[in-house]
Amino acid sequence: SASAIDPKQGMTERFSQYGFILAAIGSSVGLGNMWKFPYITGQYGGAAFFLLFTICLIIIGLPVLLAELAIGRAGRGSASTSLVRLSGKKIWGGFGFISIAGAFIILSYYAVVAGWTMHYAFLSFSGQLFSSSDYGGHFGSFIGSYWPIVWQAVVMLLTGWIVARGVSSGIEKYNRILIPGLVVLLILLAVRALTLEGAGEGVSFFLQPDFSKLTAESALVALGHAFFSLSLGMGAIMTYGAYVDRKQSLGKATLAVGSGDLLYALLAGLIIFPTTFVFGLEPAQGPGLVFVALPAAFSAMPLGAWFGGLFFVLLAIAALTSAVSILEVPVAWVREKFGWGRAGAAAFTAFLCFLVGLPSAVSVGGAVPGIEFMGKTFFDWMDFLSSNIILPLGGLIVTLFAGYFWKGAAKEAGLSTWWFNLWLFMMRWVAPVLVGLVFLYYAGVIRF
Ligand code: PHE
Repeated sequence: SASAIDPKQGMTERFSQYGFILAAIGSSVGLGNMWKFPYITGQYGGAAFFLLFTICLIIIGLPVLLAELAIGRAGRGSASTSLVRLSGKKIWGGFGFISIAGAFIILSYYAVVAGWTMHYAFLSFSGQLFSSSDYGGHFGSFIGSYWPIVWQAVVMLLTGWIVARGVSSGIEKYNRILIPGLVVLLILLAVRALTLEGAGEGVSFFLQPDFSKLTAESALVALGHAFFSLSLGMGAIMTYGAYVDRKQSLGKATLAVGSGDLLYALLAGLIIFPTTFVFGLEPAQGPGLVFVALPAAFSAMPLGAWFGGLFFVLLAIAALTSAVSILEVPVAWVREKFGWGRAGAAAFTAFLCFLVGLPSAVSVGGAVPGIEFMGKTFFDWMDFLSSNIILPLGGLIVTLFAGYFWKGAAKEAGLSTWWFNLWLFMMRWVAPVLVGLVFLYYAGVIRF
């Protein structure tokens, strides 16, 4: 209801402590872990890349995650309003708005990919996926048709519906069911993959680092992905932070979310690389990896249609819980700005996001040819702009705000002096420099 935002105290809805941890893990675990992480690990050096990603996640990702949570809880507003409230300066509202716009853009194409996973779950369970063995051809003709629009609409409807139901009977409730279910099913699949004959080669590709494969670019990709994977720089964690109870320990929550995200990435790798190697597929084939390689692998497994269906359902669930957290970012802003209720704001924003996503849905597979600029499709531009430009920019804004412009950080974060000093050092010096490098690299200002 509209009264859930108090003019003085800001957001009045609250997560339960356990529900918040699950919702935050639900936000971080998504297509990033199970679709993007395996293919970029395949492209940027296997185990050595995984190690870099882990290091970036721990030394930069976790401090920024804590900063977003602290800002959100102290500010109790949308990603824009919280910054204004805590600094007392209107200009920060504009900076916060960059993240809000970024979240909107991410969701517009994220929902398209989430829709593909729903289509694949459906095809796998019905057995249709395995009626021919031309998986690459199937993927190509599917994304080149108009069907992805239907699935994109389904994703936006479900996402909008969960967000409309609110923090406790929507977001928290569905994460409580979906996230524990997800880990059980993933472990089942990992056991299946690891017991395949010849799984060892895939495991060593994923876990035995060969440092000669690392480049400067792979380090930047690893840092950028740590941000994407932990849902940072887009105001998602900051907005969830606005609903966190005073009693919750933000330090513990940060550790829980970080280890949750790593665990799901580890499980995804342990499923995908053994199957990729056992079935002689190419790990560096890019975005098609899970949609092309895995059906081939599942088709050759006993009970493959069943395991395949399960995998794609998982992917859809993981994507949905992330999509919910992304939609909440602009919805919180619309509610504050126009004084609308949750349902209206969610329906309006989800519909707008669906419209903005249409060119992505039809450009990536060429259903409508020619929606491209400078050699990149509309879909690729949305991905590039949001992940590589807006996300590091949003990250930079958070680190500078927490490091230099907000005096209340120490109190809100609730850390001991030693940890707080370490955190402040990361916020002031390490994170801005490294995140700034990522931004300058992708903006084309610096090259290696
Ligand atoms: N972390 C999500 C994933 O890994 C994506 C995401 C990005 C969610 C930014 C919120 C904000 O799929």
